Amino acid sequence: MTEAVRSGLPPTGDVAPIADKIRIEGLSYRYRRRGREDVVALDDVDLTVGRGEFLSVAGPSGCGKSTLLRVLAGLQKPTAGVVRINRERRGRPLVAPVFQEYSIFPWRSVEANVRLGLDAAGVDRSEARRRSQEWIERVGLAGFEKALPGNLSGGMKQRVALARAFVVEPEILLMDEPFAALDAQLRKVLQEELLAIVREHTYTVFFVTHNLDEAILLSDRIALMSARPGRMRRIVDVPFARPRSAELRKDPEFVRLEEELWADLKGDVETIEEVVR
Ligand SMILES: Nc1ncnc2c1ncn2[C@@H]1O[C@H](COP(=O)(O)OP(=O)(O)OP(=O)(O)O)[C@@H](O)[C@H]1O
Ligand SMILES: [Mg+2]
Repeated sequence: MTEAVRSGLPPTGDVAPIADKIRIEGLSYRYRRRGREDVVALDDVDLTVGRGEFLSVAGPSGCGKSTLLRVLAGLQKPTAGVVRINRERRGRPLVAPVFQEYSIFPWRSVEANVRLGLDAAGVDRSEARRRSQEWIERVGLAGFEKALPGNLSGGMKQRVALARAFVVEPEILLMDEPFAALDAQLRKVLQEELLAIVREHTYTVFFVTHNLDEAILLSDRIALMSARPGRMRRIVDVPFARPRSAELRKDPEFVRLEEELWADLKGDVETIEEVVR
């Protein structure tokens, strides 16, 4: 069943069905600023995401990646255009977001943070406990159930955020630079864990990253955007079979693709530091 879940138009209740999981058409987003010029964060963006696809969005700082993700999350309403999402299961959340800053509650234990979405959905207490425990173990936090976030490292906090998103079994995971605040080693560990999780479960993932290496390792396709105004620049197929592992980085085709994407983005960023290879 297709819903105009996020739409700049009033909901009509009569939406043409789509085969894709997400279809974004003519999407524009303007930030209005009092007494100053509007910022056109997204300008006429078209993009589809297939069912079970892992799609990354990359591009220079300010090209509208986070704006696009927040529109998909329903946190911001587009100025123009339509987003259609194909809902397959009733009674489960359609989307679950994971952000760069560990958006977990400092006064709740690891277990209580992970369970949050299940409690909100009124899932039976023992069922909620069982499912939370499963994901706490899956992300390597067994033994830390009662710990408070203040006593956890950045990597552990981000594992809590991942478990909290996965435990509600959303149809679509929306991830906005979820590993950007982590050091390089930990980032690699969590990338591998995410690869393993999407291997076992069919998720549609919309993943925002500055990091081309990460985008190639994880994604089926990469959407490259350009800034000012934020536009879709190019969509690239990532040709590697799954299951994948970090070993893929040594593949000459991986290296070649990274060079190609970097050459493409480089001209579009004002400073080299804006895009991390
Ligand atoms: N609340 C806001 N008010 C005004 N302008 C905003 C607001 N939020 C974002 N913008 C502007 O909209 C544009 C897109 O911002 P957005 O955060 O979506 O980009 P991004 O691609 O996620 O950048 P980054 O890689 O730095 O996270 C930028 O020019 C930004 O300055
Ligand atoms: Mg952003």
